[in-house]
Amino acid sequence: MKFFIDTANMDEIKEAHSWGIIDGVTTNPSLVAKEGISFHDRLKEITSLVDGSVSAEVISLDAEGMIREGKELAAIAPNITVKVPMTPDGLKATAAFAKEGIKTNVTLIFSANQALMAARAGASYVSPFLGRLDDIGHDGMDLISTISEMFIMHDIKSEIIAASIRHPMHVTQAALNGAHIATCPSKVLHQLFKHPLTEAGIEAFLNDWNNRKS
Ligand code: E4P
Repeated sequence: MKFFIDTANMDEIKEAHSWGIIDGVTTNPSLVAKEGISFHDRLKEITSLVDGSVSAEVISLDAEGMIREGKELAAIAPNITVKVPMTPDGLKATAAFAKEGIKTNVTLIFSANQALMAARAGASYVSPFLGRLDDIGHDGMDLISTISEMFIMHDIKSEIIAASIRHPMHVTQAALNGAHIATCPSKVLHQLFKHPLTEAGIEAFLNDWNNRKS
């Protein structure tokens, strides 16, 4: 399973990129709004640093508007993936983008059937939202597992992005349940480093080194 970072914050992207573990970036309108920046300028900055997929979401709700916006976004850099919502118009736009060779990430997926439809429309990626399902008392991980099983059974090539990741166990479980990618907030990526035995081990090694016999 690969790691994407789920943010529009340049410092967070630069930091995670410097660790050598980031294969892509996902943004959404809420993440971009928090930054108070020009979306296009930020996408240029991100795509000049990150080689992998950079998801940029359209705001229009009608297929025509999504296609127009998506083409503008895709023109920013070859690694832009146009993110579209899971709606009938979203799938219409997805099919149109697929015909033109523009990559898409169908977002806000909360059921296996939505994932299946998105894949059939030609989505490069489907994004089931784990955390938001957990929030309402459903099992987000169960959805990842079902989509994965379905895609393997039917030889579907769309990649599954485990999204709305809230904590490290989501990452482990997403990998075990067949997600191709986990898109993680910076906070979760930081949490993944943490283990008390690693920290204690570094401290003990340093102490021993500093007290070595000379
Ligand atoms: C994914 O592409 C979304 O940007 C994201 O994972 C949403 O996460 P949230 O539910 O924490 O807002």
